[in-house]
Amino acid sequence: MALRRTLALAPEPASARLGRRAATSLMAEVGARPDLVDAVVLVVSELVTNAVRHAPGSVELLLEADATTASVGVRDTSAARPQLVDAYDGGGRGMLVVTALAVRWHVEEVPGGKVVWAHLRAA
Ligand SMILES: Nc1ncnc2c1ncn2[C@@H]1O[C@H](COP(=O)(O)OP(=O)(O)OP(=O)(O)O)[C@@H](O)[C@H]1O
Ligand SMILES: [Mg+2]
Repeated sequence: MALRRTLALAPEPASARLGRRAATSLMAEVGARPDLVDAVVLVVSELVTNAVRHAPGSVELLLEADATTASVGVRDTSAARPQLVDAYDGGGRGMLVVTALAVRWHVEEVPGGKVVWAHLRAA
């Protein structure tokens, strides 16, 4: 059965750790496979860090998971979209990690900003 969790986060670096902790706990509740847990925690870390670094306001983490699939959504207050940067140049690693780990990611426009969604599946 899929479980959902929503977590309001402050626009500060410590929010990435709170997001990772929430993801770890939800994935344990659904009995997710270890490879999926690792991937979800990494994606949460990168997307929350991006929301804190690249958008001005508060952040919301949206999680939905069952044992073999997970969706991670991170809402922020900027309309600008994540960019896939071709060559690593002191940055641009985060979305490459998300692209490698997720089946797909996309941006949902919402009032006052956006949600960056990543959908993952156990290998
Ligand atoms: N939530 C976001 N809101 C606005 N722009 C974003 C957001 N996330 C990413 N971006 C843009 O996309 C670029 C690429 O993001 P990415 O996470 O790959 O690299 P980075 O955050 O710059 O560096 P790092 O390698 O530490 O993650 C960012 O530099 C930024 O311009
Ligand atoms: Mg980043």
